[in-house]
Amino acid sequence: MLLLLFAILFCKVSAQEGQIQIETQNTALILKAGKNGLLYQSYLGTKLKDNSGYNLLSKENTKSFVINDGNPLVNLRHQAYPTFGTDNLFESAIRVTHNDGNPSLELFYISHQTEKIDSNVTETIVNLKDPVYPVEVKLHYKAFYNENVIEQWTEILHHEKKPVMLYDYASSMLHFDADQYWLTQYHGDWAKEARMQESKLTSGTKVIDSKLGVRTDMYQTPVFLLSLNSKADENSGEIIAGTLAWSGNFKFSFELDNKNSLRISSGINPYASEYTLQPGKTFTTPSFIYTFSNKGKGLASRNLHAWARKYGIKDGEKPRLTLLNNWETTFFNFDEKKLTDMFSDSKTLGVDMFLLDDGWFGNKYPRSGDKYGLGDWQATRTKLPNGLGFLMQEAGKTGVKFGIWIEPEMVNPKSELYEKHPDWVLKLPNRPESYYRTQLVLDLCNPQVQDFVFKTVDDIMQTNTGVAFFKWDCNRMMTSAYSTYLKNQQSHLFIEYTNGLYKVLDRIKTKYPNLPMMLCAGGGGRTDYGLLKYFTEFWASDNTDPFNRIFIQWGYSQFFPAFSICNHVTSWGNQSIKFKTDVAMMGKLGFDINIKDLKADELKYCQEAVANYKRLNTVIWHGDMYRLISPYDESRAVLMYVNEIKSKAILFSYTLHPLYDPQYTAVRLQGLDPDKMYKVEEINVMPEAKKSFEQSGDSFTGDYLMNVGLRVSSSKVETSIVLEITEI
Ligand code: DGJ
Repeated sequence: MLLLLFAILFCKVSAQEGQIQIETQNTALILKAGKNGLLYQSYLGTKLKDNSGYNLLSKENTKSFVINDGNPLVNLRHQAYPTFGTDNLFESAIRVTHNDGNPSLELFYISHQTEKIDSNVTETIVNLKDPVYPVEVKLHYKAFYNENVIEQWTEILHHEKKPVMLYDYASSMLHFDADQYWLTQYHGDWAKEARMQESKLTSGTKVIDSKLGVRTDMYQTPVFLLSLNSKADENSGEIIAGTLAWSGNFKFSFELDNKNSLRISSGINPYASEYTLQPGKTFTTPSFIYTFSNKGKGLASRNLHAWARKYGIKDGEKPRLTLLNNWETTFFNFDEKKLTDMFSDSKTLGVDMFLLDDGWFGNKYPRSGDKYGLGDWQATRTKLPNGLGFLMQEAGKTGVKFGIWIEPEMVNPKSELYEKHPDWVLKLPNRPESYYRTQLVLDLCNPQVQDFVFKTVDDIMQTNTGVAFFKWDCNRMMTSAYSTYLKNQQSHLFIEYTNGLYKVLDRIKTKYPNLPMMLCAGGGGRTDYGLLKYFTEFWASDNTDPFNRIFIQWGYSQFFPAFSICNHVTSWGNQSIKFKTDVAMMGKLGFDINIKDLKADELKYCQEAVANYKRLNTVIWHGDMYRLISPYDESRAVLMYVNEIKSKAILFSYTLHPLYDPQYTAVRLQGLDPDKMYKVEEINVMPEAKKSFEQSGDSFTGDYLMNVGLRVSSSKVETSIVLEITEI
């Protein structure tokens, strides 16, 4: 004890040089320059009350890092940004070949500086340098204090005479030491996005990545949860939730080594993407965004939601538009009359906007199906003789906003655009063109193509009043990809395409800063914080069957806030309109049904649900989310949102496919104030129907609701209960 006290005091007086503390309210990441000049991660976890403890930790770790007793310099286990080519035995964050052919890099700590950007955000930059070759690396760490989120990225720069080849260029490398590591990944495909799969990591390397080039998140969402020591729990245990803000190929690799240490490298997928870095130019990686929670995945999600609202998603603190979309009702088959009728339907329903989907453009090759017209962004005269301006005007007269679908990165071979610019598409020389949904990807590496895509949006915005909203789709991945523009630098394609897309979106955001846009990619093929800087929301999946949808929304809810996840009520599935609407209401609500097909009581129900949603949406969008019962654990799902001052909460309870007489137990609520009194009322009830929640209208203390709980689940297959909980 005395010894320990002495050690603490000693560390306090000799504040270690080169020790870097990156801290949020509850988390600390500690880096330390070793005597050998290399930089190590000595800690990532719960912030200590007393800083001096970190000095002890780094000493402790220095001992255990020595992998070869005979050689104290070989001390590479927890390097903050490990290099390839000298004595690293594991995954490297960076691998380069110098222009003299030397394939090695050493990065020594040079200096670091920390700047307080505002009262919540601090940025630390650590400068590393090779002692022999003029290569520099800057590690950036942005710490968001209140949200407990760290954003990490890297800059690589050199002053050699000729270009340096970059083979690996991770955004970050993190290290963990635990008994067990449980990884949750979010795997999927079209109509089954973001399915949660948890597995225990075994020795060796597990990789989650994408090689699709564009629409990159179709099979794997670029997110993961890592739980230390035991399976991930909603309310307890140590969890890292991480995601990459990059919309091209990504890669997370989890390497469990011979000492049971885990290293996670995150970044652009270097697969087929070696990068020629010119002297004096900086290669900047995308950001790896993560949070550490010592109270399970619920808190990790709330941290990320809070961060996304303020920093991660375009206009995260502004309201969203409820809408009626025509895709599932009409597909390509509509005309002016059908659309203007649907403006009135939107008004009847009470939503803010009508969203015109695919099929409105193309004249030489009218878009009567998915084989024609992509690229020709002029309204089809035979379908819409008065053009888009007329539709904007009519929607305005009806009192609804008007939004429109585009897919500006793509082209059908049957289009005027393709006929005019056959060299603007990605296609291999000497091989046949490779189609998917009868379309090709435009070459966004080419600045002329970037101009064209920008102009597509700009022209629509310059027509009459412009539109109030875009749905930006992307229905294929890259295959047989080759850019005529890039000539002999084809390995830059995946990166330069994504950068080209960001350039276009930057221009759009600058010229139209208040324009909301939905990100869509043939369902949820694009769900990343790289694009969400430019988009207010994303389309989670084309699968809108509410039973399936609960799982999809549950998956995305781990990383993305409710206001960003678009859910529409459609004719998928034969469940009641109430169940469909209640499921869609847990995120951003929209409709894609023929209002005229609804029975009178169904329409009335929908109108009331829209009105309830508008009354309560700030709680759903900006409140804290608590997942109470997971559909992965039971045949029901229960979650709730609570506003910041804990005066209002909304609870959604969905019953899925239980066995006969499931005897559901009471559900303990979370996030309320134990000392407050709350009235609990069932809302979203079908007209004339009896309320399903027997205690509707009763009042309880927060203490009771959180410790005893309520029986909020009906036992009937595919039914739902929505509760409004109000402080009295
Ligand atoms: C795929 C999207 O996911 C759908 O919502 C719809 O917009 C179609 N594309 C239109 O082609």
